[in-house]
Amino acid sequence: LHKEKKIMPNKIIGFSKLSRVEKIDWLNKNILDDSHQVKLILDKYLNSNKDIQAIHDSFSENSISNFYLPYSVSPNFLINDKIYTVPLVTEESSVVAALSNAAKFWFDKGGFKTEVKSFTKKGQIHFSFDGDKNILEEFIKINEKEILKSTDIIAKNMKKRGGGISSIQLIDKTDELKNYFQLSVDFNTSDSMGANFINSCLESMSKKIKELSDEYFKKNNYGINIIMSILSNYTPDCIVESYAECDINDLVDIANIEPKEFAEKMKYAFDIAKIDISRAVTHNKGIMNGIDAILIATGNDFRAVEAGIHAYASSNSKYQSLSECSISGNKFRLSLKIPLSVGTVGGITDLHPLVKLSLQILDNPSSKDLMCIIASVGLAQNFAAVKSLITSGIQEGHMKMHLINLLIKNNASEEQIRKAKTYFLNKEINSSSVNQFLKLNK
Ligand code: MEV
Repeated sequence: LHKEKKIMPNKIIGFSKLSRVEKIDWLNKNILDDSHQVKLILDKYLNSNKDIQAIHDSFSENSISNFYLPYSVSPNFLINDKIYTVPLVTEESSVVAALSNAAKFWFDKGGFKTEVKSFTKKGQIHFSFDGDKNILEEFIKINEKEILKSTDIIAKNMKKRGGGISSIQLIDKTDELKNYFQLSVDFNTSDSMGANFINSCLESMSKKIKELSDEYFKKNNYGINIIMSILSNYTPDCIVESYAECDINDLVDIANIEPKEFAEKMKYAFDIAKIDISRAVTHNKGIMNGIDAILIATGNDFRAVEAGIHAYASSNSKYQSLSECSISGNKFRLSLKIPLSVGTVGGITDLHPLVKLSLQILDNPSSKDLMCIIASVGLAQNFAAVKSLITSGIQEGHMKMHLINLLIKNNASEEQIRKAKTYFLNKEINSSSVNQFLKLNK
């Protein structure tokens, strides 16, 4: 309360050139309270193995330590008749426990069946053109081969792996924005997520387009102005679907609720998420709890996947839930269809030791295999969340984890933790009740 008001730090030039210790000193002097505590904390989380630390430092600029998150595994995933143990990185308590329960539950019912429906990714060259559209179309048609040829060196290895550019298309957007055209390029990036490959191809193509068009349009006094060339994280043509189904009578032993009532309640909960945006976002967040955790563990770009999936959830011009629940006769079915652009080679998959390990745990999947696994994890997580919501509520599970966190924070012994788990079964869990318990159970 009585802390002196801090002065804003001055703008610093050349921060990235400072050594790690100098960076920490700067933080200490300019933002923190100039104590040695900061360096001690940051040092504690450095890896004692210099080689490993060097790998981590290479991932980002201005790295001064490591930020740890739990690395977990969830066994018993039966996906397309193969059993997987899934590596997960998440800080959210209950996510892994709930997922493991769902995997175990569906294991006995045939597991998850999943299929990659399409596998095309897109990049765009955005440009403005102030001339006759017909002449532009003619220019692209005449020069298509040469434009594509400009990617030959970049695409050589990708072609060997079965990937490459599959088509290009000129799109007229002048109705929406004056002079605006796109060259939309479809790619198959094989087992890589393909961001670098796509962006390199696009940049090479746009250079070629500029070069050829300057010459071509000289006589008409028209010009192509390249605005930008970049992949799209919206991947509605790179789709995977996963489903799980069982006989309604097999939905037994779920939190004291009759199978038929459980099935109907779950369907109703899924239907709510189809029509109500506020619920749809939370429903989809539950799906993403599992998806993000495996994306991080396998070194994939979770921001890209998140952006693409949420855009897809809005593709009916209204944001909706991504998964479906249906009851047909005695059959109960859950399914999830999502766009997923992921890789199992390239990026940090070859660099991060834990990412390599994750892929080994998953039996070195192809990117299509990984799409299938991720969609099934998302569906299992979704089932687990809605199952809790329509039966016990989610706080029961969360509070169990909260209790452990409070006990650990208060340096409880293993014996105290064991006793507390029983003691708090039917009691309010908060910091004062936990403190009180620890005082009485020294
Ligand atoms: C919490 O992280 C996720 C849930 O809110 C998902 C849902 O409501 O379906 C439980």
